[in-house]
Amino acid sequence: MPDTPKVTDYLASTFNNPESPAEAALRPLSFSDFTGQAKSVERLQVMVGAAKRRGDALNHILLSGPPGLGKTTLSFILGNEMGRNVRVTSGPVVEKASDLAGLLTSLEEGDLLFIDEIHRIPKTVEEYLYSAMEDFRLDIMIDQGPNARSVRLSIPRFTLVGATTRAGLLTAPLRSRFTLQTRLDYYDTPTLMGIVERSCGLLGVEIDNDGAKEIAARSRGTPRIANNLINFVRDFAQERADGRITKPVAAKALELLEIDARGLDEMDKRIMRIMAENYKGGPVGLGTVAIAVGEEADTLEEVHEPFLIQEGYLQRTQQGRVLTAKAYQALGLKGFARDQGDLL
Ligand SMILES: Nc1ncnc2c1ncn2[C@@H]1O[C@H](COP(=O)(O)OP(=O)(O)O)[C@@H](O)[C@H]1O
Ligand SMILES: [Mg+2]
Repeated sequence: MPDTPKVTDYLASTFNNPESPAEAALRPLSFSDFTGQAKSVERLQVMVGAAKRRGDALNHILLSGPPGLGKTTLSFILGNEMGRNVRVTSGPVVEKASDLAGLLTSLEEGDLLFIDEIHRIPKTVEEYLYSAMEDFRLDIMIDQGPNARSVRLSIPRFTLVGATTRAGLLTAPLRSRFTLQTRLDYYDTPTLMGIVERSCGLLGVEIDNDGAKEIAARSRGTPRIANNLINFVRDFAQERADGRITKPVAAKALELLEIDARGLDEMDKRIMRIMAENYKGGPVGLGTVAIAVGEEADTLEEVHEPFLIQEGYLQRTQQGRVLTAKAYQALGLKGFARDQGDLL
């Protein structure tokens, strides 16, 4: 596939560089700045309101969902709304119980500890989290051999905010210690349009309604992708037009990036193509598709499948995954109605 790496690289960078300074500048800082995710936001607002009224720390919260939808953003908003500090770390970084002890003992009463990718926290450390979350204490073993002894550390009443793209990989005991578990969904185009307009406003970029719609529709339901596309479209508008983002300007810029008009990324399309060409559109098991496209089944399930299902390209059935007529249209493949129409 000689003509595809550009897009793959581009979108991969949007997933792998979550904390770029450009991104931080566009991050909403309060609930009123954050659009979409109505259910999750209301749940969080209820918890924040109640905790503040009682003068308590916030209860532990688990945010899950595909990359780029606002998990990190919401955790910072929680800190702002509570008027507390947010300490940030990530599952794989907390290697030992002593790392965790260091983090927890440095917190002040009511602070938030944000653990990104919490499903990647080592199991040995995870067990220490239980008592920290529940009883706000840590029993740590120090020294070795005959001198080994357990020391009890008491830690301030803190709030653990966990984020994960793979809620399914969290152990039941860890999951059950979160008072709220809430999942973020892909954004619809009108909501993303609003986010695009907001970002352009902050960047001082002129954009019209149709320009915003064009970018929103091609952002795979994901604000992070929308913001990245804006940056490129802005450059394009400056270099190849009068600086204003209109529909034709946005469309040309995104064509140059080989961004799909429907917002599908290369892996989305590869999944659909393999299902159509090798498995007659299914039903086929997710594990089989994963091997065929060379991606982990978990990633397909957490990153790609939810988008394809939400957009109506894929259906999950008892027998396995099945492509829809819309997927065949998107791939430009004919023959679905004749050969496989009876599947749907
Ligand atoms: N609801 C939203 N409104 C505006 N911008 C958003 C929203 N959700 C996410 N973003 C933007 O998208 C980018 C990615 O969000 P982030 O919270 O880092 O995603 P995640 O942690 O889920 O991968 C951030 O720069 C943020 O500004
Ligand atoms: Mg994040």
